[in-house]
Amino acid sequence: MGNKIKIGALVSGGGTNLQAIIDSCISGKVDGEMVFVGSDNPGAGGLKRGEKHSIPTFVVDYKKIIHGYKEKPEQTMPPEDFDLDEILSKQHLFPSESDSKRRRQYFITRAIAEAELLKKIHNHPVDLLVLAGFMRNLTPYFIDRFNTDPDHPRIMNIHPALLPAFPGVDGYGDTFRYGAKVGGCTVHFIDYGEDSGPIIGQKAFSITSDDTIEAIKEKGLRLEWELYPECIQLFAQRRLKTVKMAYRLENGKIYSKTIVKISK
Ligand code: GRF
Repeated sequence: MGNKIKIGALVSGGGTNLQAIIDSCISGKVDGEMVFVGSDNPGAGGLKRGEKHSIPTFVVDYKKIIHGYKEKPEQTMPPEDFDLDEILSKQHLFPSESDSKRRRQYFITRAIAEAELLKKIHNHPVDLLVLAGFMRNLTPYFIDRFNTDPDHPRIMNIHPALLPAFPGVDGYGDTFRYGAKVGGCTVHFIDYGEDSGPIIGQKAFSITSDDTIEAIKEKGLRLEWELYPECIQLFAQRRLKTVKMAYRLENGKIYSKTIVKISK
């Protein structure tokens, strides 16, 4: 099989999704090869999973970078090509009325971390980057340098809820606490917002009155392990295309959204 795509993964935790993707590459369900596993967390179990399969691993210690900046902000320089105004004009992570000092600190520290990520990734070129339980938002600094062709996004994420419901860090918990009767998971390309990028695939499960949070997480994770490899395989087969759609609503307003079309 000469047509395998090269895949890189970023993880923060145990890495069961990473494992599902590695296993799918080995079994041939995905025409791909995992070529690196990176993490923001030196203790991430996903790094060990990578090592077990002799996949190169690396860490960019976000906590250390953020702490270093808080201690000595004047001595911590953002990357040379960092342009705060440009980033602020693109990002959708903070509302424009939010505390400007906090925003500045956030985007400077993230750009420092992301420049390091880009440097490490440079050693292992990939077709696709998958976020597999990576608990950091990537900012426009990283996204624009990695997605060099905006019409062909190549960073995927898996989210533990049926987006656009329950974005954020605790999708299954939020689904449970809301009393939703259906839960699920979503794979999407990332954009400049949090869990807001074009949806590639979703799987759903029923929630009954006996279900605990743990039961919901278990049902959801099992579906994640199927969904993520399926979506990656669609990418490997070049069947994913992003298209900007625009609709005129009854009130005359235009609603536009970039969506994923899956070809047969
Ligand atoms: C998954 O539920 C994923 O949807 C979320 O974080 C969790 C990661 O689990 N983003 P694992 O590290 O893949 O086991």
